[in-house]
Amino acid sequence: MMIMRDRKIAVIGAGNMGSAIAGGLVKYADAEICLANRSEDRLVKFADAYGSRPNLKLTTDLADAVVDASLVVLAVKPWAMKEVIDQIRPSLLDDAVVISVAAGIGLADLKEMIGRDSVGVVYMIPNTALQVGKGMTFAASAGVDNERLDYIHSLFAPLTRLKFIDESKIGAAMALCSCGIAYVYKFIAAAAQAGVELGIPYDDAVDYFTATVNGATALVESSGLTLQQLVNAVTTPGGMTIRGVNELERKGFTAAVIDSIIAPLKK
Ligand SMILES: NC(=O)c1ccc[n+]([C@@H]2O[C@H](COP(=O)([O-])OP(=O)(O)OC[C@H]3O[C@@H](n4cnc5c(N)ncnc54)[C@H](OP(=O)(O)O)[C@@H]3O)[C@@H](O)[C@H]2O)c1
Repeated sequence: MMIMRDRKIAVIGAGNMGSAIAGGLVKYADAEICLANRSEDRLVKFADAYGSRPNLKLTTDLADAVVDASLVVLAVKPWAMKEVIDQIRPSLLDDAVVISVAAGIGLADLKEMIGRDSVGVVYMIPNTALQVGKGMTFAASAGVDNERLDYIHSLFAPLTRLKFIDESKIGAAMALCSCGIAYVYKFIAAAAQAGVELGIPYDDAVDYFTATVNGATALVESSGLTLQQLVNAVTTPGGMTIRGVNELERKGFTAAVIDSIIAPLKK
Protein backbone atom coordinates (compact mmCIF):
# COMPACT_ATOMS: atom_id res chain seq x y z
CA MET A 1 0.00 0.00 0.00
CA MET A 2 1.34 3.41 -0.91
CA ILE A 3 2.30 5.75 1.92
CA MET A 4 2.12 9.35 0.73
CA ARG A 5 3.27 11.12 3.89
CA ASP A 6 6.65 12.85 3.82
CA ARG A 7 6.71 12.93 0.07
CA LYS A 8 6.63 15.69 -2.46
CA ILE A 9 3.61 17.78 -3.42
CA ALA A 10 3.74 19.92 -6.57
CA VAL A 11 1.49 22.95 -7.01
CA ILE A 12 1.37 24.19 -10.59
CA GLY A 13 0.24 27.80 -10.95
CA ALA A 14 1.15 30.53 -8.47
CA GLY A 15 -1.92 32.69 -9.07
CA ASN A 16 -4.41 33.54 -6.33
CA MET A 17 -5.60 30.00 -5.75
CA GLY A 18 -2.31 28.18 -6.31
CA SER A 19 -0.50 30.56 -3.94
CA ALA A 20 -3.18 30.20 -1.27
CA ILE A 21 -2.99 26.40 -1.47
CA ALA A 22 0.81 26.27 -1.61
CA GLY A 23 1.05 28.81 1.24
CA GLY A 24 -1.18 26.66 3.45
CA LEU A 25 0.55 23.40 2.52
CA VAL A 26 4.02 24.86 3.14
CA LYS A 27 2.89 25.90 6.59
CA TYR A 28 1.07 22.76 7.66
CA ALA A 29 2.01 19.75 5.49
CA ASP A 30 4.68 17.29 6.43
CA ALA A 31 6.02 17.21 2.86
CA GLU A 32 8.23 19.04 0.40
CA ILE A 33 6.15 21.59 -1.52
CA CYS A 34 7.26 22.56 -4.99
CA LEU A 35 5.43 25.57 -6.40
CA ALA A 36 5.81 26.11 -10.13
CA ASN A 37 4.76 28.98 -12.33
CA ARG A 38 5.70 29.50 -15.97
CA SER A 39 6.70 33.12 -15.30
CA GLU A 40 8.89 34.20 -12.43
CA ASP A 41 7.09 37.29 -11.16
CA ARG A 42 4.34 35.40 -9.32
CA LEU A 43 6.96 33.20 -7.64
CA VAL A 44 8.78 36.31 -6.45
CA LYS A 45 5.50 37.64 -5.04
CA PHE A 46 4.90 34.31 -3.30
CA ALA A 47 8.40 34.33 -1.79
CA ASP A 48 7.82 37.89 -0.56
CA ALA A 49 4.54 36.91 1.06
CA TYR A 50 5.52 33.56 2.59
CA GLY A 51 9.29 33.85 3.04
CA SER A 52 11.69 30.99 2.54
CA ARG A 53 11.03 27.67 4.25
CA PRO A 54 13.10 24.51 4.24
CA ASN A 55 10.27 22.45 2.72
CA LEU A 56 9.58 24.94 -0.12
CA LYS A 57 11.00 24.94 -3.62
CA LEU A 58 10.03 27.47 -6.32
CA THR A 59 10.57 26.85 -10.02
CA THR A 60 9.51 28.01 -13.46
CA ASP A 61 10.02 24.47 -14.81
CA LEU A 62 6.57 22.86 -14.59
CA ALA A 63 7.76 19.42 -15.73
CA ASP A 64 10.59 19.37 -13.21
CA ALA A 65 8.20 20.34 -10.41
CA VAL A 66 6.19 17.11 -10.72
CA VAL A 67 9.20 14.76 -10.72
CA ASP A 68 8.69 12.37 -7.76
CA ALA A 69 5.55 14.24 -6.66
CA SER A 70 2.91 11.87 -5.29
CA LEU A 71 0.35 14.69 -5.35
CA VAL A 72 0.08 17.37 -8.03
CA VAL A 73 -2.26 20.35 -7.61
CA LEU A 74 -3.12 22.08 -10.88
CA ALA A 75 -4.17 25.68 -10.22
CA VAL A 76 -3.96 27.25 -13.67
CA LYS A 77 -6.71 28.80 -15.75
CA PRO A 78 -9.12 26.22 -17.23
CA TRP A 79 -8.11 27.04 -20.80
CA ALA A 80 -4.42 26.42 -19.94
CA MET A 81 -5.04 23.02 -18.39
CA LYS A 82 -4.44 20.89 -21.50
CA GLU A 83 -1.22 22.71 -22.36
CA VAL A 84 0.04 22.36 -18.78
CA ILE A 85 -0.86 18.66 -18.55
CA ASP A 86 0.93 18.06 -21.87
CA GLN A 87 4.03 19.65 -20.34
CA ILE A 88 4.01 17.67 -17.07
CA ARG A 89 2.80 14.27 -18.40
CA PRO A 90 6.28 12.84 -19.13
CA SER A 91 7.45 13.42 -15.55
CA LEU A 92 4.20 12.46 -13.80
CA LEU A 93 4.50 9.39 -11.53
CA ASP A 94 2.29 6.48 -12.61
CA ASP A 95 0.68 6.37 -9.15
CA ALA A 96 0.37 10.14 -8.70
CA VAL A 97 -2.89 11.84 -7.77
CA VAL A 98 -3.70 15.01 -9.72
CA ILE A 99 -5.97 17.57 -8.08
CA SER A 100 -7.39 20.20 -10.41
CA VAL A 101 -9.09 23.32 -9.06
CA ALA A 102 -10.07 24.60 -12.51
CA ALA A 103 -13.77 25.37 -12.59
CA GLY A 104 -15.65 23.43 -15.24
CA ILE A 105 -13.02 20.77 -15.94
CA GLY A 106 -14.56 17.54 -14.69
CA LEU A 107 -13.08 14.14 -13.86
CA ALA A 108 -13.60 12.66 -17.34
CA ASP A 109 -11.91 15.69 -18.96
CA LEU A 110 -9.00 15.40 -16.55
CA LYS A 111 -8.62 11.65 -17.12
CA GLU A 112 -8.69 12.19 -20.86
CA MET A 113 -6.13 15.00 -20.75
CA ILE A 114 -3.79 12.99 -18.52
CA GLY A 115 -4.28 9.88 -20.61
CA ARG A 116 -3.02 7.44 -17.98
CA ASP A 117 -5.48 5.22 -16.09
CA SER A 118 -3.18 4.65 -13.12
CA VAL A 119 -3.20 8.35 -12.20
CA GLY A 120 -5.99 9.25 -9.76
CA VAL A 121 -7.85 12.51 -10.27
CA VAL A 122 -9.63 14.96 -7.99
CA TYR A 123 -11.83 17.83 -9.17
CA MET A 124 -11.71 20.34 -6.33
CA ILE A 125 -13.71 23.54 -5.89
CA PRO A 126 -12.12 25.74 -3.25
CA ASN A 127 -12.85 29.39 -2.64
CA THR A 128 -10.79 32.36 -1.59
CA ALA A 129 -11.50 31.94 2.15
CA LEU A 130 -8.95 29.12 2.00
CA GLN A 131 -6.32 31.87 2.35
CA VAL A 132 -7.44 32.32 5.95
CA GLY A 133 -8.02 28.65 6.74
CA LYS A 134 -11.79 28.93 6.39
CA GLY A 135 -14.60 28.38 3.95
CA MET A 136 -16.03 25.35 2.26
CA THR A 137 -14.30 23.29 -0.41
CA PHE A 138 -15.92 20.48 -2.35
CA ALA A 139 -14.23 17.73 -4.31
CA ALA A 140 -15.04 14.67 -6.40
CA SER A 141 -12.56 11.94 -7.21
CA ALA A 142 -11.92 9.04 -9.57
CA GLY A 143 -9.35 6.29 -9.14
CA VAL A 144 -8.22 7.53 -5.71
CA ASP A 145 -8.25 4.96 -2.88
CA ASN A 146 -9.53 5.69 0.63
CA GLU A 147 -6.06 6.02 2.09
CA ARG A 148 -5.15 8.78 -0.34
CA LEU A 149 -8.53 10.47 0.16
CA ASP A 150 -7.83 10.47 3.92
CA TYR A 151 -4.39 11.92 3.24
CA ILE A 152 -5.86 14.69 1.06
CA HIS A 153 -8.40 15.40 3.82
CA SER A 154 -5.65 15.70 6.41
CA LEU A 155 -3.56 17.95 4.15
CA PHE A 156 -6.40 20.37 3.50
CA ALA A 157 -7.92 20.28 7.01
CA PRO A 158 -5.92 23.30 8.27
CA LEU A 159 -6.81 25.25 5.10
CA THR A 160 -10.52 24.69 4.63
CA ARG A 161 -13.45 22.44 5.36
CA LEU A 162 -13.32 19.82 2.63
CA LYS A 163 -16.14 17.51 1.59
CA PHE A 164 -15.96 14.83 -1.07
CA ILE A 165 -19.23 14.59 -2.97
CA ASP A 166 -20.54 12.98 -6.12
CA GLU A 167 -19.40 14.87 -9.19
CA SER A 168 -23.03 15.40 -10.26
CA LYS A 169 -23.42 17.71 -7.21
CA ILE A 170 -20.32 19.83 -7.85
CA GLY A 171 -22.21 22.48 -9.86
CA ALA A 172 -24.78 22.93 -7.09
CA ALA A 173 -22.07 23.07 -4.42
CA MET A 174 -20.16 25.64 -6.46
CA ALA A 175 -23.27 27.81 -6.90
CA LEU A 176 -24.08 27.63 -3.18
CA CYS A 177 -20.60 28.27 -1.78
CA SER A 178 -18.15 29.58 -4.41
CA CYS A 179 -20.73 32.03 -5.78
CA GLY A 180 -22.51 32.40 -2.44
CA ILE A 181 -19.49 33.95 -0.75
CA ALA A 182 -19.91 36.98 -3.04
CA TYR A 183 -23.51 37.45 -1.85
CA VAL A 184 -22.30 37.50 1.76
CA TYR A 185 -19.93 40.37 0.85
CA LYS A 186 -22.84 42.15 -0.84
CA PHE A 187 -24.99 41.66 2.27
CA ILE A 188 -22.29 43.18 4.50
CA ALA A 189 -21.78 46.07 2.07
CA ALA A 190 -25.52 46.77 1.92
CA ALA A 191 -25.78 46.77 5.71
CA ALA A 192 -22.82 49.15 5.94
CA GLN A 193 -24.48 51.48 3.41
CA ALA A 194 -27.52 51.61 5.69
CA GLY A 195 -25.26 52.22 8.67
CA VAL A 196 -23.84 55.29 6.92
CA GLU A 197 -27.35 56.69 6.40
CA LEU A 198 -27.85 56.25 10.14
CA GLY A 199 -24.63 58.15 10.88
CA ILE A 200 -22.09 55.33 11.34
CA PRO A 201 -18.89 55.78 9.24
CA TYR A 202 -18.66 53.18 6.45
CA ASP A 203 -15.52 51.36 7.67
CA ASP A 204 -16.87 51.15 11.20
CA ALA A 205 -20.20 49.86 9.90
CA VAL A 206 -18.39 47.14 7.87
CA ASP A 207 -16.37 46.22 10.95
CA TYR A 208 -19.37 46.06 13.28
CA PHE A 209 -21.59 44.19 10.85
CA THR A 210 -18.83 41.69 10.00
CA ALA A 211 -18.51 40.94 13.72
CA THR A 212 -22.29 40.48 13.80
CA VAL A 213 -22.13 38.03 10.87
CA ASN A 214 -19.31 36.18 12.64
CA GLY A 215 -21.42 35.94 15.77
CA ALA A 216 -24.42 34.71 13.79
CA THR A 217 -22.42 32.01 11.97
CA ALA A 218 -20.87 30.86 15.27
CA LEU A 219 -24.35 30.50 16.77
CA VAL A 220 -25.64 28.64 13.70
CA GLU A 221 -22.70 26.25 13.99
CA SER A 222 -22.62 25.72 17.73
CA SER A 223 -25.84 26.69 19.52
CA GLY A 224 -27.77 23.59 18.49
CA LEU A 225 -30.76 25.84 17.68
CA THR A 226 -32.53 25.86 14.34
CA LEU A 227 -32.39 28.97 12.16
CA GLN A 228 -36.02 29.76 13.02
CA GLN A 229 -35.29 29.39 16.77
CA LEU A 230 -32.36 31.80 16.39
CA VAL A 231 -34.62 34.30 14.57
CA ASN A 232 -37.32 33.86 17.23
CA ALA A 233 -34.77 34.59 19.95
CA VAL A 234 -34.19 38.10 18.56
CA THR A 235 -37.71 38.96 17.38
CA THR A 236 -39.77 40.03 20.38
CA PRO A 237 -43.47 40.08 19.41
CA GLY A 238 -44.35 43.68 18.57
CA GLY A 239 -40.67 44.63 18.72
CA MET A 240 -38.25 46.36 16.34
CA THR A 241 -36.50 43.38 14.77
CA ILE A 242 -39.62 41.63 13.47
CA ARG A 243 -40.51 44.86 11.61
CA GLY A 244 -37.13 44.65 9.84
CA VAL A 245 -37.43 40.91 9.18
CA ASN A 246 -40.87 41.35 7.63
CA GLU A 247 -39.61 44.27 5.54
CA LEU A 248 -36.86 41.97 4.21
CA GLU A 249 -39.54 39.50 3.14
CA ARG A 250 -41.76 42.21 1.61
CA LYS A 251 -38.75 43.36 -0.44
CA GLY A 252 -38.21 39.79 -1.69
CA PHE A 253 -35.05 38.93 0.27
CA THR A 254 -35.61 35.15 0.41
CA ALA A 255 -36.64 34.96 -3.24
CA ALA A 256 -33.65 37.10 -4.29
CA VAL A 257 -31.21 34.85 -2.42
CA ILE A 258 -32.78 31.68 -3.86
CA ASP A 259 -32.64 33.10 -7.39
CA SER A 260 -29.05 34.29 -6.97
CA ILE A 261 -27.89 30.82 -5.91
CA ILE A 262 -29.71 29.15 -8.80
CA ALA A 263 -28.90 31.78 -11.49
CA PRO A 264 -25.21 30.78 -12.03
CA LEU A 265 -26.33 27.32 -13.15
CA LYS A 266 -28.67 28.72 -15.80
CA LYS A 267 -27.23 29.39 -19.24
N1 LIG B 1 -9.78 32.37 -7.27
C1 LIG B 1 -10.79 31.61 -6.85
O1 LIG B 1 -11.57 31.95 -5.96
C2 LIG B 1 -10.98 30.24 -7.44
C3 LIG B 1 -11.95 29.41 -6.89
C4 LIG B 1 -12.10 28.12 -7.40
C5 LIG B 1 -11.31 27.72 -8.46
N2 LIG B 1 -10.38 28.56 -8.99
C6 LIG B 1 -9.59 28.09 -10.13
O2 LIG B 1 -8.21 28.29 -9.88
C7 LIG B 1 -7.53 28.40 -11.13
C8 LIG B 1 -6.59 29.58 -11.02
O3 LIG B 1 -7.38 30.73 -10.78
P1 LIG B 1 -6.78 31.99 -10.04
O4 LIG B 1 -7.92 32.74 -9.49
O5 LIG B 1 -5.67 31.56 -9.14
O6 LIG B 1 -6.20 32.78 -11.31
P2 LIG B 1 -4.91 33.73 -11.43
O7 LIG B 1 -4.58 34.35 -10.13
O8 LIG B 1 -5.14 34.59 -12.61
O9 LIG B 1 -3.72 32.69 -11.81
C9 LIG B 1 -3.75 32.00 -13.04
C10 LIG B 1 -2.60 31.02 -13.08
O10 LIG B 1 -2.68 30.29 -14.30
C11 LIG B 1 -1.40 30.34 -14.92
N3 LIG B 1 -1.54 30.18 -16.37
C12 LIG B 1 -2.42 30.81 -17.17
N4 LIG B 1 -2.21 30.41 -18.46
C13 LIG B 1 -1.19 29.49 -18.42
C14 LIG B 1 -0.55 28.71 -19.40
N5 LIG B 1 -0.91 28.76 -20.70
N6 LIG B 1 0.45 27.88 -19.01
C15 LIG B 1 0.84 27.81 -17.70
N7 LIG B 1 0.24 28.52 -16.73
C16 LIG B 1 -0.76 29.36 -17.09
C17 LIG B 1 -0.87 31.69 -14.55
O11 LIG B 1 0.52 31.74 -14.79
P3 LIG B 1 1.22 33.17 -15.21
O12 LIG B 1 1.55 33.87 -13.91
O13 LIG B 1 2.46 32.73 -15.91
O14 LIG B 1 0.26 33.91 -16.05
C18 LIG B 1 -1.23 31.70 -13.06
O15 LIG B 1 -0.35 30.89 -12.32
C19 LIG B 1 -8.59 28.58 -12.21
O16 LIG B 1 -8.69 27.38 -12.97
C20 LIG B 1 -9.87 28.82 -11.43
O17 LIG B 1 -10.99 28.25 -12.09
C21 LIG B 1 -10.19 29.81 -8.51
